[in-house]
Parts: sequence; C-alpha cells; structure tokens
Amino acid sequence: MKIKDSQWITVSRDTGDVVPVFHFGFVADRPVALAELKITALGVYEALLNGERVGDFILAPGWTSYDHRLQVQTYDVTGLLEEENDLRVLVGRGWFRSPMPGWLNSEDKQRRLNQPCGLIAHLKLRFQDGTEKTFATGPDWSWAESHIRFSEIYDGEICDARKDWSSQKDWQPVKLLDWRKDILIPQEGEIIRETGRIAAKRIFKTPQGDTVVDFGQEVTGYVEIALNAHVGDEVLFDHAEVQDRDGNWYNENYRSAKARAKYICREGMQTWHPELTFFGFRYIRLLSWPGEAKKENFTAIAVHSDMKRTGWLKSGNAELNRLFSNIVWGQRGNFLDVPTDCPQRDERLGWTGDAQVFIKTASYLFDTEKFFKKWLHDLAADQRESGEVGQVIPDLMPEGVSSAAWGDAATICPWQVYQTYGDKAVLEDQFDSMRKWVDFIGSVTKTPNLWIDHFHFGDWLGLDAPQGSYKGSTRDDFIASAFYAHSAELVVKAGRLLGKDVSAYERLHRDIVAAFRAAFPDYKTQTEHVLAVHFGLAENPQKTADALAEMVKADGTQLRTGFVGTPYILHVLSNYGHTDLAWDLVLRREYPGWLYPVLKGATTIWEHWDGIREDGSFWSADMNSFNHYSYGAVVDWMFEQAAGIRHAEDKPAFEELIYAPHPDARLGWLQAKLDTRHGTVSALWVCEGDGVRYELDTPVRARVFLGGKAQLVEPGHYTFWTEN
Ligand code: BGC
Repeated sequence: MKIKDSQWITVSRDTGDVVPVFHFGFVADRPVALAELKITALGVYEALLNGERVGDFILAPGWTSYDHRLQVQTYDVTGLLEEENDLRVLVGRGWFRSPMPGWLNSEDKQRRLNQPCGLIAHLKLRFQDGTEKTFATGPDWSWAESHIRFSEIYDGEICDARKDWSSQKDWQPVKLLDWRKDILIPQEGEIIRETGRIAAKRIFKTPQGDTVVDFGQEVTGYVEIALNAHVGDEVLFDHAEVQDRDGNWYNENYRSAKARAKYICREGMQTWHPELTFFGFRYIRLLSWPGEAKKENFTAIAVHSDMKRTGWLKSGNAELNRLFSNIVWGQRGNFLDVPTDCPQRDERLGWTGDAQVFIKTASYLFDTEKFFKKWLHDLAADQRESGEVGQVIPDLMPEGVSSAAWGDAATICPWQVYQTYGDKAVLEDQFDSMRKWVDFIGSVTKTPNLWIDHFHFGDWLGLDAPQGSYKGSTRDDFIASAFYAHSAELVVKAGRLLGKDVSAYERLHRDIVAAFRAAFPDYKTQTEHVLAVHFGLAENPQKTADALAEMVKADGTQLRTGFVGTPYILHVLSNYGHTDLAWDLVLRREYPGWLYPVLKGATTIWEHWDGIREDGSFWSADMNSFNHYSYGAVVDWMFEQAAGIRHAEDKPAFEELIYAPHPDARLGWLQAKLDTRHGTVSALWVCEGDGVRYELDTPVRARVFLGGKAQLVEPGHYTFWTEN
C-alpha cells in the first residue's frame, strides 16, 4: 500500500483562524522492527507521536508549486512507538492558505484563505515476525481545535497554552477531502531545520518607552521564550529589523505584514516559540509581558533550508569580514525552501530575478544543488504554455508578466548548478524549460532577434534611476536583448553537452548578437557596458571595459548599477585589467558601496545601499528590506578574482583549478576555503614587506598564473612568492 492509497482528510466545519489537530490512535500488538510514516499536508504540518515531535523538519512539507507538486516526507518513527499509540498532526495555513502576496485585493485574499486544510498520511508497521500492518488517513481519523488559535505566514501566530484543546471529548470525525493525489512526489529539497540559537544580547527601553530585546543579528526564524508565569498571563511581541535614528521602535518597512506573536500562558515554568510560521527580525518589542523581562527569557532560533556550508572567506580587514558574515546570514535568512527576496515584509516570495543574481555567490557559500534542483522543477512546473516564466516561483502571481533578467532564471540557474556541481542531470531536467523560455521571447518580441517593447523590471534599483523611480537608467530594450542573447547561448551550451541538435539556437544566438550590435552601437550606463562585455556582445570588449573603468572613475569611483549590473561589474573590471578599481569599489566605505551598510551596523545585506542614510533617516518605508541578499552577489568575485580560485567552463565543479589571485595591500591578507565536488581548495595570500606570499592547497591539477607567468601544478600544497 502506498500513500496514494490513503485518503485526503479535512475538518468537518470551518475553524476560521484556529489551527486544527488531526488524531489517530492505534495499537502495535507485536514487537515492531520498523515503523515508517509517510505524510504531507495542504498547509504546513507538525506531527507528534505519543507527544514527541516526528522528525525535525520545520514548516513541512515546504513550499512547492502546489498545483503540480507536493512533497511527501518519510519518517522512521520506530523509536517513538509504544504499544498504545497516539498520533497527532497540526496543520497550519502555511504558504498554501496564507493570503500572499500582501497586495492581493480582498477577494483574492479570501480565495486563498478559503483553500481547504488537508492531510494525507500512511503509517506502515513491519513487525519482527515479518508481518506488516498499515494505517492510512481516512474516516477513522478525528480532529479537534488546537492550542494554536491563529497562524499565518505574514501576520504571525497566537498560542493559547491554558488547556489541552484536543482533550478526548473534543475529537470529532474528519471529513474526506476530494483532492488530487497525482501531485504527490517524494521529498526533493533540503530539509528546513532549526540551525542556530542566538541568545538575546540586551534588553532596553527606547526613548518612547518601548521595551525592546536585541539579538545583535538579523535572523529568519522565531523567538523562543522561557518564563515562569500564571495561567492566563499574556505575552505579546512584534518584530523589527532596525531602530529609527532616535533609537525608537520601527517596523513600518514590514508594510502589511503584522509579524506578531502572542502566547497565553499556563501555570509554572514554560517555554514556547511559534510553530507554524516564521519572521525576519533582529529586535522584538514586548507589548505585553508578565512581570519584569530579562534577556535570559529570550532566544532567537534561526530556521532555513539546511544546506551544507562549502565556502569560507576571511581577511585582514574586519569590515570586509563583517560583510562576508552579512552575506552568509543573508543567504541563511532567505533560503527557506525557496530563494526569497526577503524574509520580513509582505512578500517573502521566490523572485526569479533575485535568485539568478545571487545563485553563483550562494553556490560558493553553501551546497545549493538540491535546493535549486527542487526550485527549478517548480519553475518548470509553473512555466506557462507559452514558455513565459512567472515573476515569482512558486508562481503566486499568474497574471504577472515576465521580465528579462527575472525569467532568465530559467536558463542561468540550471547552468550555474551544472557549473558548480558538474552533474548534467540538472540540464537534462531543465532543458525543455530553458528552451521554452528562449522560444517565448522569440514569440512575443515585435522585432526579430531583439527583445523590444515589453514590460521589464530593468536594472532594478540602479543608482542612476531618475528621481522617484526604482528602475536604473539602463534601457529596458538593451537589457532584454542582452539577456536574450545570453539565454540563447546557454541553451546552445546545455544542448551541446546533452548531445542535442541545437543548430537553430546557434543561428539564433549569432543573429541576436548581430542585431544587438546594430541596434546598440553605444553604451550609455555602467550596466550597459557591463552587460555588453559580460555576455560577449561588445565587438571590442577591452575597449568597452576600459570605457567602463573611465565611467566608474568619472562617477566618483561609485557604483551606479542595480540588480542587473552589480553581480558582473567587478568581474568585467578584473577580467580586463582593472582589478585595482574593482578593489576600490569593494572597499569603499561611503554610500554607495558594500562597506557603507557595515559601518551603519548592518548584520545582513540591505535592499538599498542607503536603506539607512548618512543622517540616520530611512530611504523609504515602502521598499526597504534590511535582509535582501541580491547585493551580496560579490562573494563570487571574492573567490574567483580576489582569492583567485576558479575553474574554466569546460572543467565544471573544479575538475581543474585556475589559480590567479589579485592581492590588495589594503587588506593585508585574504584566505579562501572551498569544498568542491573534487575536494577542498584552500588559498591564502599575505602581503609581506615588498612582496606577496601565496599558500595554495589544491586537490586537483591547477593552472597557476602569478607574476606574469603561467605554470601547471599537480595536486598538493604550494608556496609561491611575488615581488611588488
Ligand atoms: C522584490 C524584489 C523583486 C522586485 C521585482 C520587489 O518587491 O522585493 O527583490 O525582484 O520586487 O522588481
């Protein structure tokens, strides 16, 4: 018997905001060798067997394109089994039934809130005598209201611990739910887990009299409280990322997301944290607390997809080290089953553009293979008939029109996963989706071989934006056509590796390049220069990179790039002999630059370089996330150019190493360590007296480029030296 033979069950009446708990009692009358629970839900669930949590998957079953794919988890529950067993499963709204995104009209909100709550499960007992017994969800299960009186992604959670809501007399028979089972798939992604506990750093009163707890680090997850209280005492707190310039409470930038947690106490010592939702925060404000709050009462728990860490950077510059840490926290905070733009305001969506901007950096820092493979399957599942790719995946905005550099996640992400991990399976899986995206552009553009006259997000948040606009000055048609060329080229590269006939795409790519050169002979912005070089469109890349360098200097050695240009600008500068300028940009301490937020106390990456301005005021309340990973896409340059470890495109996954570091005396030293599919690479440079010492550990053959000389070395440990 499989889980598909179980029945979907639901509650027998509308419970409003209250989270239901489903119940099943069973007897194991013989010694059990193995007990295995397969389970999933419409919503997010937490299962308890005999009072013990089943597994450590937080917010299971995760977030997928629920119309097409719903992951089923399998747990070995042998250790939790008794003779008489009590299985309970809480099913909260989660992503499935929360009104997301926050700007939905009330009718659409209601439609999402009205989605059914559902549970399907299958428990198999294998007895020591070799016989088996299975229990499936069906009419013999029951349900009751639970202690969770409200739970939703944006607005938070309310728990009433005063009584056991699901006492024996409250159990009611379930209703069967008519819901598809062909959407059920085995768990594909990483497990979402609690991955860290952070003690409160301080508790203080703001000038306006609020009591605020500071964890010293922005995290995504929830706050655990531990307290001694009387029955009925109330705890109420909301969440924030920053304080305003006067040190007062500020969370206007969460927009419509209430992000509140409420707990009604039982008698005595108790601990609690929200169970079926999450928050992005550094601070909480106590709106209600029994007695005097101490910092010992509070612990922040970080929750995210539990990917293995693979990359580390450390330097002689403390501010840069803080930047590295902020980028890692940015990834931890936003890789929560899908790559999200931010974890706090009324979005928390899988914005495709943000994901493609950050994927290379992300894949240096953590092993993202499983994470992205799952998300890309959702991208393909949600891809429209026409090949159009939604702005967010899972696609909660089916009416949203595709944009260049957002939809191109369909080609860029699979290619990056292949490059980092070397397994062609991801290309095999995604090839149709990649091709369909490129075909879609061809089908909607009015000008053959270019992508002209379409809606786009442009160089989002580019600093050369006209007053009052989120879009940089780079021409939409320029960006769209450049990415069209890039995506067509990636289809060619992927197709060739898979042994497919891609001659039509080869021709298309050639034609796009020719049309692009004719249509865009001049480059007007930093981002235009960057794209022309990075995507192989400039006829004379050296000249264009030199012009970019001049432009950057003329702009006061400042970035003007937005989401589109920022991830590539440093690479373009370095690849054409302007690494000193790239370092100037990286080490710039004033706005705009990577170190400015660090000096303003950032612990994650900001959506805007000036999220907090020099005078302490905020850029805006509307689009001002303090945990938005996109501009963290500088780490790949740190590994590849600064520390100097990269691989050629035809040697994916570091089959062979290229070692070409670019030291800068302002740092003193830089160390990079990277776990690759072929072993650990470690590279250090130290500026010493009148030269630089290099220590390289390579598990693979390496091409070393130092002091103007090239040499090939076998795996091993090497020390090199160059004179200044
Ligand atoms: C998100 C971005 C996203 C953008 C689309 C914003 O609201 O937070 O990161 O890519 O919309 O331009």
